[in-house]
Amino acid sequence: MSNPKRRLAVFCSGTGSNFVALHRAVAERGLGAEFVLCVSNRSQCGAMEFARGEGIETLHISEKQFDGPEAFALSMLQALRSRGVETVLLAGYMRKIPEEVTRAYRGNILNIHPALLPKFGGEGMYGIHVHTAVLKAGERESGATVHFVDEEYDRGEILLQGRVPVMAGDTPEVLAARVLECEHRLYPDALEKLLRESNG
Ligand code: GAR
Repeated sequence: MSNPKRRLAVFCSGTGSNFVALHRAVAERGLGAEFVLCVSNRSQCGAMEFARGEGIETLHISEKQFDGPEAFALSMLQALRSRGVETVLLAGYMRKIPEEVTRAYRGNILNIHPALLPKFGGEGMYGIHVHTAVLKAGERESGATVHFVDEEYDRGEILLQGRVPVMAGDTPEVLAARVLECEHRLYPDALEKLLRESNG
């Protein structure tokens, strides 16, 4: 009998281009996995639209919908458990993941960050702010990092990194686009690595 597919959830807040890249890789590389849930703090965003188009269940969940952080955390964890989610992929998710969830999924929850961690990570370092800081610091290269998520922002063990040059005349937007292209190759490779290691 063939192994059941590994059940993946993706967390997004925006365009969802990393989700699209992951989704394509899962299909094209035969990774033995499937996306069963797309979670977002925004009901309308590119990622949620993409999930709907692919027939993947969506869940709009934000702390505002709950009486407090505990109820929010429990509901998020319950949502993942009730769908049998085994691996969580943060792909442009701009909220902190509750500790209850990071603890429950330790070793099976990844994030992609648009810089070479441990530099340019931490609270407030997301999206364009990261690239602005990289340029301001005069770095000659940047890149992306896929890391395990733990209770601290951008601090978990690094799984894979990809590098890109910083070029003369780069604006934060131009650098962001170069890094994003790198992310679209890196995140699928990191997922493949995780799945291979956890199956082998
Ligand atoms: C990506 O560049 C991702 O690394 C970044 O947001 C973008 C999402 O793009 N994430 C963070 O800054 C998290 N700290 P996408 O929605 O097109 O995948």
